[in-house]
Amino acid sequence: MIGKKMQEAFNNQIAAEFFSAHLYLAMAAYLQSIDLPGFAHWMRIQYQEEVVHGMKMFDFVIERDGRALVKAFDAPQAEWKGPLSVIEAVYEHEQKVTGLIYNLLDIAQSEKDHASVIFLQWFVNEQVEEEASAKQIVQQLKLIGDSRAGLFQLDRELGLRVFTPPAAGAGA
Ligand SMILES: [Fe+2]
Ligand SMILES: [Fe+2]
Repeated sequence: MIGKKMQEAFNNQIAAEFFSAHLYLAMAAYLQSIDLPGFAHWMRIQYQEEVVHGMKMFDFVIERDGRALVKAFDAPQAEWKGPLSVIEAVYEHEQKVTGLIYNLLDIAQSEKDHASVIFLQWFVNEQVEEEASAKQIVQQLKLIGDSRAGLFQLDRELGLRVFTPPAAGAGA
């Protein structure tokens, strides 16, 4: 059975993952409003991924005979200053989430909760990918600069992103 301290930490992280989902959905709406449907599509997939993250943790707490909670969180920001400011915000946000995952792992280690340590490995790897993909788009946008043709091309590329749900199961 999961310990109280670990359970509370997971319940807070579940809320953080769903907050991330809402933040990315708000970004999708903003990007659509400035006529970047490919960016908006990419952000909708970010949204879906965050829902998966939250649900993975929700299921893990239940599987460990714990009590999963659905907590409130604030509404996300609604407006940004163009695509670069959005993707920079994604990159910053993901770095913050990486810190949260590391804190969770620290708790799991200090509680000697080996199941949680192993479970969290997936999230550690996921954060490496999340940060790298946001960083890559930030760099592409900086290269593009003021080129409308470049932005149009990148929007088309981002519109091709496909959502691949991770394998089911706690540690998958
Ligand atoms: Fe996440
Ligand atoms: Fe994320």
